[in-house]
Amino acid sequence: MVSAHATPKVQVLVASNRGPVSYVLKEDGSLESKRGGGGLVSGLSAIGDEVESLWVCAALGDGDREAVRRGVGEQGVRMLDIDPEVFAQAYNGIANSVLWFVHHMLYQTPLEPVFDAEFRRQWASYEAYNRAFAEALAAAAGDGARVLVQDYHLALVPGMLRELRPDLRIGHFSHTPWAPVDYFRMLPDDIAGQLVRGMLGADRLGFLTRRWAGAFMNTVTATLPAETDAFIPSGEGQRTEAFVPSGEGRHWIRHTVPGRAPHETDIAVYPLGADGDFLRRRSREADVAQRMAALREQIGAGRRTIVRVDRTELSKNIVRGLHAYRHLLDAHPEWRERVVHVAFAYPSRQDLAVYRDYTAEVARVAADINSAYGTASWTPVVLHVQDDFARSLAAYRLADVALVNPIRDGMNLVAKEVPVVSDAGCVLVLSREAGACAELGEDALVVNPYDVTGTAAALHSALSMGDGERGERTKRLAAAGTAVSPRRWFLEQLEALAAG
Ligand code: G6P
Repeated sequence: MVSAHATPKVQVLVASNRGPVSYVLKEDGSLESKRGGGGLVSGLSAIGDEVESLWVCAALGDGDREAVRRGVGEQGVRMLDIDPEVFAQAYNGIANSVLWFVHHMLYQTPLEPVFDAEFRRQWASYEAYNRAFAEALAAAAGDGARVLVQDYHLALVPGMLRELRPDLRIGHFSHTPWAPVDYFRMLPDDIAGQLVRGMLGADRLGFLTRRWAGAFMNTVTATLPAETDAFIPSGEGQRTEAFVPSGEGRHWIRHTVPGRAPHETDIAVYPLGADGDFLRRRSREADVAQRMAALREQIGAGRRTIVRVDRTELSKNIVRGLHAYRHLLDAHPEWRERVVHVAFAYPSRQDLAVYRDYTAEVARVAADINSAYGTASWTPVVLHVQDDFARSLAAYRLADVALVNPIRDGMNLVAKEVPVVSDAGCVLVLSREAGACAELGEDALVVNPYDVTGTAAALHSALSMGDGERGERTKRLAAAGTAVSPRRWFLEQLEALAAG
């Protein structure tokens, strides 16, 4: 029997700075749309028809702004046209130049950071940008809707939204590491407090690993009067286990904002994995095969490959990776002519001078190695800087060794993707500072990312590993790396948020 009354749909709102679609304004005045990928996109595609979803994101560039003005858009996506100057100060000034630096520990501390009047102006923009999101969410959300807020760009949104709409179920997920408490406390005290209170406006906070969740809880207890049920060892702890839950299931932080009732926030860990089915299918398509042929040509017959694929983030440690490769060629000259370092360093955040300088340094060091060691028939480093997903998959398939050596990384999905796609098995040389190390550390060769000599030694061991062991490790890495599909990662968060 069909009910006469349709049940109201469950409403899910997602909020993130970068949305699932972007627009480019073409010369003829038309708008071209591009779809993005990632865990949230595949997660959202997994929710059924009984759920109504809305993704609130920022207009990032002129194309997006023009789309908003023309009323062009996709169903289920709302772009916020925030004043470009406010947006730039919030995104480049605070999110990318302060919060990203704090959580990835990137400052050269003798000279920076400096929290001056300019910083305060940028902070006011960060507040305004967060408020624009909170107001848009509050206006769009139906009774009791679930709202999933993403990342450091929107750390103040949970608190602001709770004030506006206490009936909502609010979650926040951090896709980055969380800074060790002493590093976080470089921020001015009022700003540190505002960030932490903003996050604690959520009912539930998600992190990629226990280590980052533990670092957050350390920060809370150092910053606010708060109670928690979790035992947190002092310091950040070792690789994986800084956050030791005192019981099964639910862990909480209770804190009081003056004038408001005490509020409890659950803390949970959701280790996002690679999308195995998608990768296996996509990496067997014709364009990937074409890119493999072109790469083989550049590498040369019979040579081993050390592959890395990154956005050119300061935290990815591409330059030390190149130094380690150079050291390998010095310490083990037997590898000369027999190995090629295939390094893909795709552009990121080029509005920031420090990113542009870093990108130039990557190219400079790669060129230095090529001119010092290269021969008529051997180019030691093949560097590509033009983003090409099919070529990345081609490199994954060809990789004998994958080098993933970030200074600090929330998870690092490349480490989880390569073993899934690899044709003949691939040894993973992995930084102990990548979140992925918690799950992959046993079958990877684990390195300290600052130790160039140690990384070179790991590259040598990786290149020397026998096929049998390499194949076994690759299988286990692929299984561990796909244990939590993006869909499962997303749906589990959604269910937990609904359960309260
Ligand atoms: C990385 C991080 C995410 C972050 C994103 C922003 O992928 O893992 O936590 O949201 O960078 O990048 P964007 O290009 O938008 O600045």
